[in-house]
Amino acid sequence: MRNCRVGLVGAGGVAQRHARVLTDFDDVELIGVTDVAPEAATALATRYGGRAYGDVAELLAAGPDAVYVCVPPFAHGPAEEAVIDAGVPMFVEKPVAVDLSTAERIADLIAQRGLLTAVGHHWRYLSVLDQVRELLADRPVRMVSGAWLDKVPPVAWWARRDRSGGPVVEQAAHVLDLIRALVGEVTEVTAYGNGTPPPVDGADIDSVTTAALRFANGAVGTLSAACVLGWKHRAGLEILADGLALSLREDGLLIRDADGERHVPADPEAARVAVDRAFVDAVRGVGDDVRVPYAEALGTQRLALAVADSARSGRTVRLVPAAAPMLSSGVTVNA
Ligand SMILES: NC(=O)c1ccc[n+]([C@@H]2O[C@H](COP(=O)([O-])OP(=O)(O)OC[C@H]3O[C@@H](n4cnc5c(N)ncnc54)[C@H](O)[C@@H]3O)[C@@H](O)[C@H]2O)c1
Repeated sequence: MRNCRVGLVGAGGVAQRHARVLTDFDDVELIGVTDVAPEAATALATRYGGRAYGDVAELLAAGPDAVYVCVPPFAHGPAEEAVIDAGVPMFVEKPVAVDLSTAERIADLIAQRGLLTAVGHHWRYLSVLDQVRELLADRPVRMVSGAWLDKVPPVAWWARRDRSGGPVVEQAAHVLDLIRALVGEVTEVTAYGNGTPPPVDGADIDSVTTAALRFANGAVGTLSAACVLGWKHRAGLEILADGLALSLREDGLLIRDADGERHVPADPEAARVAVDRAFVDAVRGVGDDVRVPYAEALGTQRLALAVADSARSGRTVRLVPAAAPMLSSGVTVNA
């Protein structure tokens, strides 16, 4: 295959990161970008190459080999539908939507079309995960605690529930995704939010949320999300098995067992590059290492929304296993 010709939908922070990573690859040509804010598209194209397109249809008419959808959570849906309709392989940034019905609709269309997809859960490419899996191979996980303790990110849509989905859906989803990958599927969630938004204009999200999780394999866990700080304090998870404690963050793994304590560094930037490399290789037909296709991200979306729903309703939410035929009944409220 000639160079992989990539187009971007959305020209904000994460699109710029993908543009930077992709234009460092010898076998990728960035053909351009479209954004509802044309000046953002022009700025990205000026910096990284390609041209600014007026809309998604115009971008697709230029014949990309792959499209990255890098829009905020509330804006997902129409761009994906157009890309799927054109039969073009698609990378979608997380979270895949602000709700479940959009994500399920897109997942169904992708499945019908048999389209190659990837979602930006790049933590799945952290170099230390093989070691985590090795350490856990012969002992079941007993408990996991995930956390994302941070500030309010500087994008206008973030503190609005109907725009971002809230901190659990928008941010802690990286941690929930890794929890699913390393511990297994959650069957029951009971969460609490504080009902107090962060001091940001128009905010209506909880500034802290905490959830208790029960897993299909008998493990139990917690997830905490907070945006009350002025800095990123901690994002990661701790896994406990018999005689083993693992602390995993984007920048490394701390292992403690009978042999003592050791730290294995990880490079977060390497994982961000790897997620793009794997997708491009899959598009070019020279690799098969997409770790989170859209259907897999749907499981993370379902879990994140279950936490958010439980925090809002004050009720326990039970998750039906993903294999159940009625996807839309995936989240049920347990009265
Ligand atoms: N995987 C990661 O590590 C990572 C990192 C940062 C952001 N993200 C995710 O990427 C998404 C975008 O975040 P961001 O920081 O780039 O936001 P941003 O606000 O900086 O950029 C979003 C861009 O999308 C544009 N846009 C909005 N609606 C659009 C539409 N319908 N069509 C085309 N363009 C549209 C906006 O004008 C804006 O330029 C979020 O869901 C966020 O969670 C992921």
